[in-house]
Order: sequence, then structure tokens, then C-alpha cells
Amino acid sequence: MIATATERIVANPLAGDPPVWEPHTRAPLDFHRRLPGYAPTPLVVIPSLAQRLGVREVLVKVESTRLGLPAFKMLGASWATYRALVGRLGYEPSWGTVADLAEQLRSLRPFTLAAATDGNHGQAVAVMARLLGFDARIFVPEGTVAARIASIAGEGATVTVVDGDYDATVARSAQEAGPSCLVISDTSWPGYDQVPRWVVEGYSTMMWEIDDALARRRASTDDRAVVPDAVIVPMGVGALTAAVVNHWGRHDENGPHARGEIGSGRRDDSGHAGSERPHDSRPVVVGVEPVDAACIMASVLAGRITTVPGPHRSIMAGLNCGTPSPVAWPLVSAGVRTLVAVDDDRARQAVRDFAAFGVEAGETGAAALAGLTLLQSHDQPLPATATVLLLCTEGATDREGWWRILGVDVV
Ligand SMILES: Cc1ncc(COP(=O)(O)O)c(C=O)c1O
Repeated sequence: MIATATERIVANPLAGDPPVWEPHTRAPLDFHRRLPGYAPTPLVVIPSLAQRLGVREVLVKVESTRLGLPAFKMLGASWATYRALVGRLGYEPSWGTVADLAEQLRSLRPFTLAAATDGNHGQAVAVMARLLGFDARIFVPEGTVAARIASIAGEGATVTVVDGDYDATVARSAQEAGPSCLVISDTSWPGYDQVPRWVVEGYSTMMWEIDDALARRRASTDDRAVVPDAVIVPMGVGALTAAVVNHWGRHDENGPHARGEIGSGRRDDSGHAGSERPHDSRPVVVGVEPVDAACIMASVLAGRITTVPGPHRSIMAGLNCGTPSPVAWPLVSAGVRTLVAVDDDRARQAVRDFAAFGVEAGETGAAALAGLTLLQSHDQPLPATATVLLLCTEGATDREGWWRILGVDVV
């Protein structure tokens, strides 16, 4: 086991040509469009942040309101739940609204969805259970902030605090599996990888929306990237990063890459991260973790999946994971170019910086900006020509904590 203690930037020694999953389709996006409250989340451009960080453009995908929840996780939880329920039914039901779907699934009741979470995933699973008329049993690690537990319980779920870290919570949730209980986990373990794979697939909706937004912009201004030069992703178990790699890490012989529509020829040949592949338009993927839960960094350095022992106490709660997801690992280990470990002070500063630009980012949501800030202060920053995409994956999931970070007292 390897523990990391200080902020670090590491060039991934395992980086290469990642495997990708086929088929890769818009089916998750089409599914999400049928959920209540669906709307694409905003992709915002912040010129003054780009100027400050020394890059051409900073784009931010803002997931602070996603399907009625304050984080992106519903994308994976809902799609994985749906696919798993289709498996239980044995056929794909025909439905228009979630109420129709719940009706079609009535024969399964009483039925329970179970999940381990450090907050966002469990709340999303609880919402799915409520929408479908099922029960939810959600397990959280000790030390989970009360506001996050209350949000999950507020969806009607039973919440159990497990005496241990996220890995222990995952192990506890796995015991729930049975004929009338589905475990919806965002990480995999031996013998359980189909659901976490669907979770990764579900996250692709975020990337399809970004593609569509960039294509719309490109249609009005020619000198703009259709794919960013770099994508900065917060990493917990690596499922979101796997989705990013699976989406943008693929060679597409007939796609927009091959047709020369990607990028605007702005890459230089200086050897910086954003310009290393003048003939390859796949973005550089940069993964960000908290210093004491940098399990993907520890794993790429060890050359295999490695556990970073807890307790993991970062305020970036969604990233407090000790072990990478095995199902995500092949994509993440080959597809991430640079790994960045940031501390909580940097995350707090990123929360404040985002707020100053009008973006509500929780501590985990701000991690991508924290990572980019560290990277740009380093001796091999992303180049001035780079268009950089930050995935801001959550809003203020602990609102009092968020106010405190902004220096505001809640009385
Ligand atoms: C808000 C937020 N961002 C990022 C992540 C990291 O995602 P993953 O665990 O798939 O790497 C999580 C995980 O729970 C999260 O809640």
C-alpha cells in the first residue's frame, strides 16, 4: 500500500492507447431526456479565468443542478438502475414518462435499491427508488457530513452509517444483493461489474451535451474547438474519468476528428501537455484527487490497482475513495495523461474562485479548478494555446460548509 501526503503532479507512466467500449451510443442521453426535469447543464466560458491561468479558453461544465439534484451522479445511477431493472424484467418495457415506467415495474414490488455513497450517488439512487415506487437502503462512511445524510434521508431512503471508510461502505452495501434488492454501485468488485459499467455509460450524457454545445458554437464562430485540448476531471474511483476517456479517447476513422473539424490548428509544437499530439485530436485528460485519497495516482505509480489506506478526511468528500474501480481501471490507467493531487486549502480557494465568477461549486465540484491551478503553477503548464474544459461536478451539497468557505457566517 502506498500513501501520498503532499500536493503532487505526476506524468502517468502507463499512459497509452486506452481500450474503449463498444457500442458507444446516445442511448443514455435519450433515456435521461425522459426523466423529470431534464435539461442540458450549462457549459460556460470564463475568459478572465483563462487569462489568469495562462490558457486560451476555460470552459466549465456546471453540474450544480442536474435532474433536480446538486451533482452529476444521477446520470450514472439512473441509467444503471434502468438497465439492471430491464435485466430483472427480461424485456425492455415501452414507456414515455417515469410514471409509465414505474407502472411497468409494479410486478417487482416490494423492491429495494441499495448503494454505498459518500453523498451524491446515494442521493441519486434514493431518488430513482422514490420515482419507481421502491425502497432505498443507502450506506455512508463514518464522518459523512450531516447535511448530506439528511439529503439522502429526505428522499425517503433508510441511511446507515458504516463504521469505516468508503471501501468498507461498499463492502457492506454488497451484502444487500438479493431477489428483491438490486445493489447499484459506482465501483466494481470481482463478480460485480455490469452495473458499474452502466454507471460509466450513464455519465456519457455529460459528454454528448458538451459535444453538442461546442458544435453549436463552432457553427457560429469557426475559430473554436469542437473538442477541448485538455479535460480536467475530479477522480474518486475513476468511473467519471473512464466515461471521459471512453468518449473522447477513441480514434474515429470517419468522425469529426478524421474530417479535420476538431480543434482549430492552434496546437504548437512546444511539447506541452496540450500540444503533444499535433495529429491526434484526442484531448489530454488530467485527473485530480485529494492528497490523502490519491488512489489512482498511487495505482499508476505502482503499475496496478492499489489501495490507499484511510481514513480519508478530505473536504472533497466525493473523492474520498481508497481503491480505483476495477472496471474503470483499464480506461483510466491508459487514458489519463497527468495526475494531480491537491490539498483542501486549494479546493477551498477554488470554491471561492468559482463563486467569484458566478459558478456555485461544492468542494468536490471545485477540484478540477484546484487541479488546473496547481498544474499552471508548475514547470510544465498547459500551453497558452489550450482550450481547457473543467468538469465542475457538484454544487453546494453541504450549504453551510460552502458558506463558511466563502467567509460567510450562518446563524
Ligand atoms: C461530485 C463528484 N465529483 C466527482 C466524483 C468522482 O467520480 P468517480 O468516483 O467516478 O471518480 C464524485 C464521486 O462520487 C462526486 O460525487
